[in-house]
Amino acid sequence: SIRKIAVAVDGPAGAGKSSISKLVAQRLGYLYIDTGAMYRAITWAALHAGVDVKDEIKVTALLPSIDLRLEPTKDSFRVYVNNREITADIRSQAVTGHVSQVASYKSVREFLVEKQRQMARCGGVILDGRDIGSVVLPDAELKIYLTASVDARAHRRWLEVKDIEEVSLEDIKRSVKERDLMDTTRKESPLICVPEAVVVDSSNMSFDNTVEHIMKLIIDKSALLAEEAIQVK
Ligand code: CDP
Ligand code: CDP
Repeated sequence: SIRKIAVAVDGPAGAGKSSISKLVAQRLGYLYIDTGAMYRAITWAALHAGVDVKDEIKVTALLPSIDLRLEPTKDSFRVYVNNREITADIRSQAVTGHVSQVASYKSVREFLVEKQRQMARCGGVILDGRDIGSVVLPDAELKIYLTASVDARAHRRWLEVKDIEEVSLEDIKRSVKERDLMDTTRKESPLICVPEAVVVDSSNMSFDNTVEHIMKLIIDKSALLAEEAIQVK
């Protein structure tokens, strides 16, 4: 039988990492872990506690009191902080606007990376984020760098929120660019494309094509590893 592997999916905001990883995981019977949701949950907790998110010391002091849980559901997952469900709250513009700041703190990253490695221990996992291939799972059997042009990514985000929030495409583009800059230039675990990653540019790929493409990468990789394992014996 084909062995399940650990898959790291990294890339900038709006490339399709979470929506695609979620569906691929569901189809392959893998566990999907959205690490961005975890940084968003910490950001939500800080804002909710009235902590100044620009104050690294105050955010750090809050961490021990945050009991963060991701609960898998049939086709997605729910997010809880101290037993309060915040699955929808973590997608607000307020959280989106501050998450890259909070994610730049070393204490926050250590806190979450530890949790992410524990959650990934079972094998057959897809983690998506910015530092999965470089820091969280450096030994992942498959690393994917999923990207797309800023225009394509901003447009996708705009389609998602235009009916919910009063926000222009230009504002979203600015916010995406700001987060790209913070995520790629920060000192702690910046977003990078590791040399061994398979680069997938989804700018001109449909959602379904991207799903198919990534499923094939995973199936081919696990088949190859199974074959190699036989040859060694
Ligand atoms: O889905 P979207 O691209 O908007 O972002 P996300 O994946 O929910 O991640 C939100 C933010 O968390 C990112 O902009 C990063 O600043 C941070 N993040 C990170 O630093 N490391 C990760 N492994 C995942 C997210
Ligand atoms: O997680 P990340 O920020 O990388 O992106 P996402 O939230 O999964 O995807 C952003 C939006 O792009 C979603 O609405 C996807 O359905 C859409 N998308 C697309 O239209 N075409 C693709 N090839 C990939 C994603």
